[in-house]
Amino acid sequence: MALKKQTVTTLQKMKTDGDKIAMLTCYDFTTARLIEQSAIDAVLVGDSLGMTMMGYEDTLPVTMEDMIHHSACVSRGLKNTFLVADMPFMSYHISDQQAVENAGRLIKEGHANAVKLEGGAKYCSRIRAIVDAQIPVVAHIGLTPQSVNAFGGFKVQGRNVSRARELIDDAKKIEQAGAFMLTLECVPEKLASLITEEIAVPTIGIGAGAGCDGQILVYQDMLDMYDGLAPKFVKHFAHIGREMKDAFNEYSDQVKKRSFPVTGEHTFKISDEVMEELKK
Ligand code: KIV
Repeated sequence: MALKKQTVTTLQKMKTDGDKIAMLTCYDFTTARLIEQSAIDAVLVGDSLGMTMMGYEDTLPVTMEDMIHHSACVSRGLKNTFLVADMPFMSYHISDQQAVENAGRLIKEGHANAVKLEGGAKYCSRIRAIVDAQIPVVAHIGLTPQSVNAFGGFKVQGRNVSRARELIDDAKKIEQAGAFMLTLECVPEKLASLITEEIAVPTIGIGAGAGCDGQILVYQDMLDMYDGLAPKFVKHFAHIGREMKDAFNEYSDQVKKRSFPVTGEHTFKISDEVMEELKK
């Protein structure tokens, strides 16, 4: 368990002290409780829940109501772990006012400690407006899944000079706008390391290499809960999907063979007198 409450200040200090930040996504109370009992520093209620929890093909259909619901569930399982909630597609794209109102809902109703939004320099006025409302902001650049249609798919970002320069510029402007943390997704390792050196706020990488100040993974990915192909940057730290399927099959087998439930062990008693009475 994180021994003391993680805050924007403690997370910033981890970068200054050279301590790596370990983050995972989280979408429900039970998983949040398990994470709270582990050494994870912060969780993200990502809009990836559209895919992992709701079965959509991408994150675009996720609503503010979905995000608030899952963030509130997660918050009830956490004590010291820092909670970031994603702003879903079209919840901050229209105006600074819309962005502040929706960020406020994630804090007031979703009980998040900070919000995350996707986008670089173009979104600096949104970041500034939310920070001015005293809400900490995590920015997200590189492969930003809400731009899947504009990007033409999920692709590594920043491999050529102009796009790499754009990402460095984005990172600096985002820092100036007041974001306290920056997510770098699917960015070449050396570029992510350069960005990490150039800015004072912690960078959290996903598919961005070990030079970032911290890492985040989708928890179902790192627990190997999918049958499908995992992205290159995913490492399986356990095979929970296989364990769950084995347990489901074993349960089904025991039910069908009548070896579960076991009388006395998994059942409740009733007195013989009551049974006699019922048979009359
Ligand atoms: O939605 C999400 O889970 C994310 C992470 C992949 C960083 O944004």
